Amino acid sequence: MPLRAVRRVLVSLLHLAVVSFFFSPSFAQSDAKAHPWMKPNLSPDERASLVLKEMTLEEKISLLHGTGMVGLSPMSPLAVHSNGGAGYVVGIPRLGIPAIQMSDAAYGVRMSGENGRYSTALPSDIAGAASWNMDAAYEYGALIGRELRAQGYNMSLGGGVNLTREPRNGRTFEYLGEDPVLAGKMVGSVIKGLQAQHVLGDIKHYALNDQESGRNAVNVNIDKRSARESDLLAFEIGIGESDPAGVMCSYNRVNGDYACENKYLLTDLLKKDWNFKGFVLTDWGGAHSLAKASAAGMDHEEPGWIFYGEELKKGVQSGKVPPAELDDHVGRILRAMFATGVVDDPPQRSVVDVAGGLEVARRLEEQSIVLLKNEGAQLPLDAARIHSIAVIGPHADVGMISGGGSAQVDPPGGNAILPPGKGQTRWLEPVWFPTSPFRAILAKAPAANVQFDSGADPASAAALARNSDVAIVFVYQWESEDMDLPSLALPEHQDELISKVAAANSHTVVVVESGGPVTMPWAGQVSAIAEAWFAGSSGADAVANVLFGDVNPSGKLPLTFPRSEADLPHPTIVKPPRESMADFSLPEPWKQIAAGLKPFQVTYDEGVKVGYKWYDAENKPVLFPFGYGLSYTTYSYSNLRVTPGKRPSISFTVANTGSRAGAEVAEVYASLPASAGEPPKRLVGWSKVKLNAGESKDVTIEVDPKFLSIFNVQKNGWQLLAGEYVFMAGGSSHDLPLKETVSLK
Ligand code: BGC
Repeated sequence: MPLRAVRRVLVSLLHLAVVSFFFSPSFAQSDAKAHPWMKPNLSPDERASLVLKEMTLEEKISLLHGTGMVGLSPMSPLAVHSNGGAGYVVGIPRLGIPAIQMSDAAYGVRMSGENGRYSTALPSDIAGAASWNMDAAYEYGALIGRELRAQGYNMSLGGGVNLTREPRNGRTFEYLGEDPVLAGKMVGSVIKGLQAQHVLGDIKHYALNDQESGRNAVNVNIDKRSARESDLLAFEIGIGESDPAGVMCSYNRVNGDYACENKYLLTDLLKKDWNFKGFVLTDWGGAHSLAKASAAGMDHEEPGWIFYGEELKKGVQSGKVPPAELDDHVGRILRAMFATGVVDDPPQRSVVDVAGGLEVARRLEEQSIVLLKNEGAQLPLDAARIHSIAVIGPHADVGMISGGGSAQVDPPGGNAILPPGKGQTRWLEPVWFPTSPFRAILAKAPAANVQFDSGADPASAAALARNSDVAIVFVYQWESEDMDLPSLALPEHQDELISKVAAANSHTVVVVESGGPVTMPWAGQVSAIAEAWFAGSSGADAVANVLFGDVNPSGKLPLTFPRSEADLPHPTIVKPPRESMADFSLPEPWKQIAAGLKPFQVTYDEGVKVGYKWYDAENKPVLFPFGYGLSYTTYSYSNLRVTPGKRPSISFTVANTGSRAGAEVAEVYASLPASAGEPPKRLVGWSKVKLNAGESKDVTIEVDPKFLSIFNVQKNGWQLLAGEYVFMAGGSSHDLPLKETVSLK
C-alpha cells in the first residue's frame, strides 16, 4: 500500500476513534461531570445559577414546557422520547441536564399496564390520611418514589391536598380530608418520603379546586381570611414541611383570576410569603396567558407550549416578558432538580418489587381502615366458631374498586370485572382491582361454608344471609377526576340490599369501599360497619385481617360523615352552564380552554367552616364525626397538663384499658378566645400511640402557634390573640374527655 494510502487509513481510523470517543456514553458522562455545576458540594442555588449562565434562549424555553398530550395541546415530535407518563420535558445533554419524565402517581404510578410495566396501588390518599400516621405517610411516598424510578420517571404528579370542602367532589379520594393541619402534615410527610428517593415531588391543585364540575371555568369566591385559615393553610403547611420541587396550579379561577395566572396565589403568597423555592407548573391545560401568567409566577406550562414556546420567545425578544422573569422560571426548575438529586442520581430502570409493594399496600391499608360501628363486639370474627359466612355485594367475589381519573393505577391483567384482554382502564369507567374479598375471607375461615352472592337480587342475597351465621356485605361508591358525585348515597340500590340482608341476619357486617363519606340510612340496622376506602392492591387481605382480628383497627376519619346531604353547607354542587364548557367535538379543543371559558360563580360563604367546623358551628348532629374510629380495645385519657409559652405544650396520659394491643390516635383540639370569632374548635395536633393491653403512656404535643392563630387580613399575617384558650384531648372531635383553659400572651 503506498504511503499516502496508509496515512489516509490511519487518519480515518483516528477520526473514527475520536468521533466514537466523543459520542460514547462515558465521554458524555465525564464531560457532564466536568461542568462546574456538577460539584455536589455547591448549593442547589449556586449550581442552578452556574447552568443558567451557559444556556441559550432556546434551551431556557425548552425547560419551561412539556412536549404535548393529545387533545390538550399540540404534539411535539420529541414526545417519542417520553417515558409514557403525563409529561415529558426535554433535557439539555450538552449541559448535563436530564429530561424530566413526569408520571401521575397519586396512589401509585399511573399507566404502568399501558406501558407494559407494573405498579402497586396503595390505598387511596384519603385512606393514607385515615391512618393519621406520619411514618406511614412517609412510607407511602417512598414506595411511590421507588416505583417511579424503577419505571424510569424522575417526577411525580401526586401530592393532592385540596380540602374536602365539598364531599361530593369526585377527587375526594385523592386528597387528605377536611382539616388543614392533618392534610398539610400528612402531605408533607408523603413528599418527604418521595423526594428522599431522588424524585421531584409536587403538591397540587393550588388552589381551591374543590369541585370537578366546570373546573376549567369556575370562579371560586372566598374571603381572604377564610382561605388562609382553611384550604391555603393545608398547602402552606405541606409546602413548609417538605420543600416540594413543584406546585401545580389548578384549573379554576380564584377571586377573579385563573389560579395559573393569579399573582396573589403564585407570587405574593407561595413564593414570597411562604418562600417556596421550587417551580409552579400548570395543571394540564391550565395556562391562559403569556405575560400575565409569567408575571404572576407561572414557571412551567403543561402539557404543551401554547404560551411558553414560540410565544414566549417572541415575548422575551420584544420585552413583553423581562429576561429576569424568564431566568427566575428556569432557575427554579434547575434548582429543584439539583436539590432533589435527579441530576446526581438519575433513575435506573429496574424491576418493581411486586411482593414488597403488596406488603406495604397491605400494611398501610390495615392502618387506614376505620371501624365505624361494632355493636355487641360483632367483630372480630372468630373463625373457629363460625360455620357459614355469606359474602355479599357487587364484585366482592373478584375485586375491590379503585379511584379513577389521572390517579388511576392499572391493575395487573386489567379491570378485574372485565374478561381478559378487555381489561384496559378507560377514562370515567370504574376499575376493580384483582383483590378478592371472597377469597380472602375463605382463607381466614377454611372450615366454614363461605358463599357469595352479588346482591343484584336483594331477595336472593337475603336468603343466603338468613342461612348463614354471618353476612358480610361489601358496598361501594366509585369516584373519579372529571366528575362529582350526584349524591352521597350508595348507588345501585345498595342501601336496599343492606337493609334486606340486615333484616335477614342480625350479624350483618358492612364494609364500605368509598373515597369519602356516604350516607347510611341502614346504620342502625347492622351490627358492624368498617370503612375500607379504595383499598389498593392488597385491600382484601387487609380487610380480612381486620375482620378476623389479626389486626386491631386504628384508623380514624379524616372527614365527617354527615347524616344527610341536607346538612352540607351547599345543598347541591353548582353546575357549569353550557357556555362555560369546552366543546370537545371541535378540532383543537385546547384552544377554547386556553382562551378562557366563560366564568360561572361558586361562592364559599361557609368560609373557614369546612367539615367538622361547619357541623360544630351550626349545631348539626353527624353520622360519624371527624377523628372518630373504634378499636377492638378501649382507651382512657387522664392527667392533662398545658404549659403555655411560645409553643404551648399539651401533655396527657393515654391508657389501653382493654385486653388487646392497639394504636390510638390521640387528638388535641383548641377553642380560641371568643373575640376570634372562630368555629367552636380546631385540630391543633395529634399523636398515634402504640399501647399493649394494660399499658399507658405519656404523650406530649407541642402546638405550632400558627395553629392557634387567626389570619389578620389588615396586618397580612398570622396573629395569636391574647385571651383564654381551651385545650381538649381525646379520641375523636366528639369525644374529648380532657379539657383545660389557659390564658395565652
Ligand atoms: C389532572 C392532574 C394531573 C394531570 C396530568 C389533570 O387532568 O387534574 O391532577 O396531574 O391531568 O395527568
